[in-house]
Amino acid sequence: MTADRTDRLFEDGAARAAYVQTMFGDISPRYDLMNRVMTVGQDQGWRRRAARAVVRPGDTVVDAGTGTGDLALACIDAGAAQVIGLDFAGTMLTRARAKSEREQFGHTGFALGDATRLPLPDASVDVWCSAFMVRNIPDLDAALREAARVLRPGGRLAVLEIPKMDGGLLRPFARVHFNQVVPRLGRLISGHSSAYTYLPVSVDHFLTPREFTARLRAAGFEVTQVRRLMFGTVAMHVARKPEVL
Ligand SMILES: C[S@@+](CC[C@H](N)C(=O)[O-])C[C@H]1O[C@@H](n2cnc3c(N)ncnc32)[C@H](O)[C@@H]1O
Repeated sequence: MTADRTDRLFEDGAARAAYVQTMFGDISPRYDLMNRVMTVGQDQGWRRRAARAVVRPGDTVVDAGTGTGDLALACIDAGAAQVIGLDFAGTMLTRARAKSEREQFGHTGFALGDATRLPLPDASVDVWCSAFMVRNIPDLDAALREAARVLRPGGRLAVLEIPKMDGGLLRPFARVHFNQVVPRLGRLISGHSSAYTYLPVSVDHFLTPREFTARLRAAGFEVTQVRRLMFGTVAMHVARKPEVL
């Protein structure tokens, strides 16, 4: 798929969601390896940081768009009693389950589910978290509404994402990394022709950290922390659902 055709996906939410679901299914065998290479080994540290920012001992956590389960496992490490990892790409979940068994993490359950229609009751979890998913969701507000619905009052949210960069001296270097290096590496490592061409286009269509903060507030969250990681190429938002929405 050319960059131009990838761009056109952003005019049709249903087509983009279908593309994302199939594409992550296709790249699942090499997904973790590509993450490690593309972030120079930093990505697991960001997940641990996000988990530690929101998880308290004994919490019930939902990891939306869990993929191969790395954030879910970081939440168990941070003290969660139970983590539910949801994703709409079945082959990513197969990898998450295998990893969880291999690393002997108990108390994780991985299930098919759409972040815009969570199969969970109202006010049923202490933490809603997500790593590198929200940029892929055409109806972002629906996903944030669902997060607010399933969180108990006072519950916490953490989101890791590659934001649209809002300036800064390193922006030209980040653009070369995402637009030139990542697509080439991605083709080489994953064998997929468009997944890592889609990635920089999806970043360009996403929000700056400030814009995402505003969307969280509009969904009713109190934003308690915004951190820029790896020279601003990754953002971590931490928020809280007020006791009374
Ligand atoms: C970039 S991967 C991130 C996976 C994992 N969270 C991580 O940290 O590596 C994005 C994941 O979100 C999933 N995803 C995208 N949109 C989704 C949706 N609406 N509902 C559930 N999963 C979704 C994709 O299938 C994919 O596994």
